[in-house]
Amino acid sequence: MTRSDLYSLAKPILFRLEAERAHALGLKLMGWLPEVKPSGADLGIRTSIGELANPIGLAGGFDKTGLHLRALSRLGFGYLVAGTITLQPWPGNPKPRVVRNVRERTLVNSLGFPNPGVDEFLRNLSSSKPTVPVVASISGREVAEIVECYEKVQPSVAAVEVNLSSPNTQRLRDLRETDLFQSLAVDLSSAKKKPTFLKVPPLLDERQFEDVLRMVGIWENHGFEGVTACNSRPVTEPRLATGAGGYSGPPLFANLILAVKKIRMKTPKPFEINAVGGVSGPENVKEALAAGATTVQLYTALVYEGPRLVSRILNELTPH
Ligand SMILES: Cc1cc2nc3c(=O)[nH]c(=O)nc-3n(C[C@H](O)[C@H](O)[C@H](O)COP(=O)(O)O)c2cc1C
Repeated sequence: MTRSDLYSLAKPILFRLEAERAHALGLKLMGWLPEVKPSGADLGIRTSIGELANPIGLAGGFDKTGLHLRALSRLGFGYLVAGTITLQPWPGNPKPRVVRNVRERTLVNSLGFPNPGVDEFLRNLSSSKPTVPVVASISGREVAEIVECYEKVQPSVAAVEVNLSSPNTQRLRDLRETDLFQSLAVDLSSAKKKPTFLKVPPLLDERQFEDVLRMVGIWENHGFEGVTACNSRPVTEPRLATGAGGYSGPPLFANLILAVKKIRMKTPKPFEINAVGGVSGPENVKEALAAGATTVQLYTALVYEGPRLVSRILNELTPH
């Protein structure tokens, strides 16, 4: 059975299930899929993460446990972001905490980092044996907690993404305040052994533009390799238990391009920008790279388009 047969059978069942359950089942089913055949064209790039077969990464949050990285690395991605994980296990927010808007192909989530904690994540990572570079996404409530998680995770991954931008955790907004953010950047830079990215919130108005660009400037000054822009957009959503969450999918794309251009203007290459938010096809990938991104990442499109998405994009990026 081909990959597309399997997914067209599974999709109607998965989409009838509650979104978070469907995701867990979808991850298990991915283990059954055959490996994507490389397109043959050379889409490889060299980044601080390493030599990547192509510039498309899986965005943070898809595999929060590290258990499914082997299966995900067979879908054609150039690299995978795993997590977000924290020093200790976290239960996350009350359910329901993920809802779909099927017609517009978007999601809203208020997960709040449910994850098994860094120690179990590292065990899962070593048993899952991914075949492409893994970037660990980490976060926490306190500077010391994030730094300890950073120290533990670095030896086992190609790079680290520090997520200070989930819309579902109030404490992260505090860590973005200048003083705390400065001390986080100082402490991380003295513990740094691997390329490290900052995942920033979306730049939705002038004030946020300034705040994010200020953080990016501090980040670059401390010698970090780049940023991942942007996380999901904060919205109210009465179907979620918390009443609010992060919106993701194609409507984020226009704002992503603006963000990439602004960040690129402030930070010339080789500072790296991983562009994420609404990427769902080859045209998006080309546009993000042309705007100044080093790589792109995607999440929501994979939910709606299924596991063939990355190989389809790669085939269309291939010069014929
Ligand atoms: C259900 C869900 C869970 C997510 N969890 C995380 C997370 O744990 N860490 C993170 O950095 N981003 C997380 N994100 C945000 C994505 O990585 C990405 O930044 C955002 O969804 C925009 O990209 P997209 O439009 O391709 O989905 C999550 C997104 C979704 C939809």
